[in-house]
Amino acid sequence: MLNQEVYDKVVAAFAAKFGGKPAKVAYAPGRIEVLGNHTDYNEGYVFSAAIDKGTFFAASPADDGKITLVALNMDETYEVELSAVAPVKSGMTWASYVLGTFNWLFDGNPAAAGKGFKAVFGGNIPLGAGLSSSASLDVATALALGAVYGIEKDKTALAKLCQKAENTWAGCPCGLLDQASSIYGKAGALVKSDFRYCKFENVSMGEGIAFMMVKSNAKHALVDGAYASRRQACEDAAKYFAGVLKKGGVTHLRDVTMAEWVLYRGGLSETTAKRAVHPIGEDERVIQGAALLEKGDLKGFGALMYDSHESSRNWFENSCEELDAIVDAAKAIPEVYGARLSGGGFGGSCCLLVDPAAADKIAAQITKEYKAKFGDEPVCSVIQPSDGAHLV
Ligand code: GLA
Repeated sequence: MLNQEVYDKVVAAFAAKFGGKPAKVAYAPGRIEVLGNHTDYNEGYVFSAAIDKGTFFAASPADDGKITLVALNMDETYEVELSAVAPVKSGMTWASYVLGTFNWLFDGNPAAAGKGFKAVFGGNIPLGAGLSSSASLDVATALALGAVYGIEKDKTALAKLCQKAENTWAGCPCGLLDQASSIYGKAGALVKSDFRYCKFENVSMGEGIAFMMVKSNAKHALVDGAYASRRQACEDAAKYFAGVLKKGGVTHLRDVTMAEWVLYRGGLSETTAKRAVHPIGEDERVIQGAALLEKGDLKGFGALMYDSHESSRNWFENSCEELDAIVDAAKAIPEVYGARLSGGGFGGSCCLLVDPAAADKIAAQITKEYKAKFGDEPVCSVIQPSDGAHLV
């Protein structure tokens, strides 16, 4: 469904449920992760982009202390009194994303809002595809409710409060990548993030290039333990390196070089050493990738994407058979410059850097090979980097 159609549906549903027009409507897109995997919480670097699909959140203040939330895609309505706002642990768990964001908009004291609100939201990002539908919901919520209640925050503060909602209310120990990409996206450009200094810049992609997202049918759920255990291993490794490296100032894996990992890995367990080398290598690849993009060397950039996937496959072990098959199929197609898993991993989607003129051929070839192996078909969609979140 096109964004305009989603917007029309959300506004029409708002009128049907509450009467009249919503006071504010916000839009926030999903994201693709292009290079730099599991580096955000290691205070490293990532290339990502906002996509042309997202969530619309329409809201008006309520006259009383009641909050009414309508999730259009799920056809569900959640109601709660302002005084009873809390995480929703079973049933309509989507409400935790909205209420958690609302909670942190008011610094953890939602009662300070004084009045409740009524809202309808809906979107067109496929769930479980690794396109950050949840971050797009958080960010759309924060923008719309921020406007309804007259709360002004800068973009980075907004991204951080949305991340806090995911971490503390939705049980997802994610970094800041998804929320920042949704907010800082720009049409035709990548977002280059430095998560130590929260520096976000847009880097142009040039003409004649696009991404293709290939959604496997393998499960992707970051609230399960695998994401958290990878994050823990990275933190353990950073502590170890802080102890053995004499240079000082080591707090995260961002501070460790590949040469240092090679020299000192012997003091780590084999598994922790394998986990640690992934974000260390990814940081180096993002820095190299930036130099290649500047020169317009898309083939070189794509080669780094393939290296990134190998690192996921062999070291971080956050890939799976389905994602590996997509990347292997992509490698044989000359119009694909690079491919890798995108986002948390353990299922979800691969991100391919492609010549858009050959999109149909690429999709057909990958679908054929995937189907021969797994029996079902992946979903291939061409993505042009798009503008970030905004009020409509
Ligand atoms: C998920 C998380 C992000 C990031 C990526 C991996 O998308 O939500 O914070 O850690 O995985 O790079």
